[in-house]
Parts: sequence; C-alpha cells; structure tokens
Amino acid sequence: MNVLVTGAAGYVGSVCCEVLLEHGHKLIAVDNLSEGHRAAVPAACEFKLCDLFDAKQLDEILGSREIHAVMHFAAEALVEKSVREPSTFYKVNVAGGILLLDAMLRHGVKKFVFSSSAATYGEPKEVPIPENHPKAPINPYGQTKWVFENILADYGRYAGLKHVSLRYFNAAGASKERGEAHRVETHLIPRILDVAAGNSKQFEIRGSDYPTPDGTCVRDYVHVLDIAEAHVKALDAMQSVSGEAFNVGNSRGYSIQEVLEAARRVTGHAIPAVKAPRRTGDPAVLVADGQKLRRMLGWTTRYSTLEAILQSAWDWKMAHPQGYAEAR
Ligand code: UFG
Repeated sequence: MNVLVTGAAGYVGSVCCEVLLEHGHKLIAVDNLSEGHRAAVPAACEFKLCDLFDAKQLDEILGSREIHAVMHFAAEALVEKSVREPSTFYKVNVAGGILLLDAMLRHGVKKFVFSSSAATYGEPKEVPIPENHPKAPINPYGQTKWVFENILADYGRYAGLKHVSLRYFNAAGASKERGEAHRVETHLIPRILDVAAGNSKQFEIRGSDYPTPDGTCVRDYVHVLDIAEAHVKALDAMQSVSGEAFNVGNSRGYSIQEVLEAARRVTGHAIPAVKAPRRTGDPAVLVADGQKLRRMLGWTTRYSTLEAILQSAWDWKMAHPQGYAEAR
C-alpha cells in the first residue's frame, strides 16, 4: 500500500517506517521536525517537511499521488508538559488531527491508524487493563487521545472512515538504526541509560510512595519494533476490523526500581539513583491486557523481556552516542 505517515521523524514513527518498508509498503513521510529528526526517516521514504496546520501543503501531498492509508504518529506526547500546557496538546493532538482527517476525506483517503495511548485509562480500576476499561484520563495528554478516539468514531459513522486506534503502553527499545532520542529527554529508560553512559551523574526516581510493591510506578514496557508490527497487522486487517481500539503492551509490569536494577545488569554500570518528588500526572500502575491484539490481529512479540528491550536501547546508545545530533 501507499501509506502517508505523519510524525515519521519521531521515535515510534521512524521505527514504524522502517518496518512498513520491510513489509513492502511505499511511504510518504511527513513531519514538521519540531521534535523529530530528519536523519531518523529511512532513506527509502519520500520525505515532506509539512505541518498539519498547513492545509494547502497537505492538499498538495494527498492530491498529487494515490494514498491508500494514513498512519498518524504526529503528536505532543509528554504527560508532564501536557499538565503545564494543555492548550498546545489540544491544538496539536485534536485540532491538528481533525485537519488531517478532513484533508484525507477531501482526497478520498479512508483508512486511518491512530497512535493512541494507555494514558486514556487514567488510574486503572482493574489491572491488567482491558480495552473496555472506563476512560478517565488524569492528564490533558491522555484526554486529547481519548477525545480524538471519539472523533474517529464519528468520522467512521458519518464519513465512512475506516480506523483503528492502537493504545501504546510504554514504548521502549530500539532497532539497529533507530532509537529514542528526544531533544529534551524525560523518558525513564533513556534517562537511566544516560547515567550508565556517563552523560549525567545520577538518576532520579520520581516518586517512591506510590501504592505499588516497592513504592515506585509500574509500567508495561513494549518494544518499539513490536509496536511497529502491530501497525502492520492493523493496516492489513483494516477492512474487517475498523472501529476497534487495541492495547499494545506486554501485559507485564515493571517498577522503576526493577527497570533500574535490570539496566545495571544489562549495562554493567552502577547507575547511582536518588529519590525525588512525584511527577505531576503520573498514574501509579499501567499494565495492558494485550489479548485482544493477539486474538483479533494475530500480533506476537519478538522482544517481550525487559532485558531484551533494555539491551537493544543500550546497543543503540553505544552505536549512536550523540543520538541523531551529528546528522541534524
Ligand atoms: N521516571 C522517573 N525518572 C525519570 C523519568 C521517568 O522516575 O527521570 C518515571 C516517571 O515518573 C514514570 C515512569 O518513570 O513513573 C515512566 O515515565 P516515562 O516518562 O518513561 O513514561 P510515561 O509513563 O510518563 O509516559 C509514556 C509516554 C506517554 C504514554 C505513556 C503510557 O511518554 O506518551 O507512556 O503509559 F501515554
């Protein structure tokens, strides 16, 4: 298929491009490079520097070639930032998404895969979390993702859009070529590995009084290459499974303390850590019930252990100590 990929220069988007290309798809990669890296976009993609708010350019892109589906990764994605700057999140994640959907419909493109999030659930009442769990986001980021899932349902009902939402839990790990390199890094694993690599002195455990066995937050880490495979499956199945949302997670939670200890084993470094205050907007536990994706789309994981995920992230970091900075 010819697939338009938004956010193609970002962490998950760029790895998904790599895997979609391996599966024989042709890609138009779109990104405004506000956060992503041009060097992360695979060379085999046709790249367009484009912002979702530029309706004219979107029309040019969608009108000048046959596009069969859109995968929408472009988004603001940091929970803590969303608490400080909700308007940015509503603009980019909701308004930007609507502009994209409308541009698609103007050009007859009717298949859409959406990067949603475990943040749609809020504080879980039940763990592992099934897809039909109540949606009560506790931060604006999660709220924007849930609002947009509902918008998609209306576009499905009233405009014939076929859509699938993939609710990622915590994306982690790397392919050989592509990994996690945010301009301002807030994510757990890259920050731990930064200490292992000697780029920062100590790791801060943000909150150690959560109602979890060791007091630190529990998350379900899922390899970015496995997330990419979920996208391939969703695209293949879209004709018959439209309107569905799927959790993308390993159904196994690890506390921050456990991740830290595993990272010490994988890297062989001591990784000094200190306790620090909680981060605003963090739920205590997020663990997926991942059965639906396996059952309905035949999804399987290749990197389900925390060690394998950390090893791939560490290998990438060792091979790319400056991230994408050198190629920017
Ligand atoms: N953490 C620390 N120290 C750090 C960084 C993070 O203790 O230096 C903690 C956080 O407080 C949190 C956990 O590690 O408890 C995971 O934090 P991340 O920032 O790596 O990931 P989040 O769980 O906040 O969010 C990620 C994505 C979201 C997505 C969410 C769903 O960034 O887009 O997973 O689970 F919604």
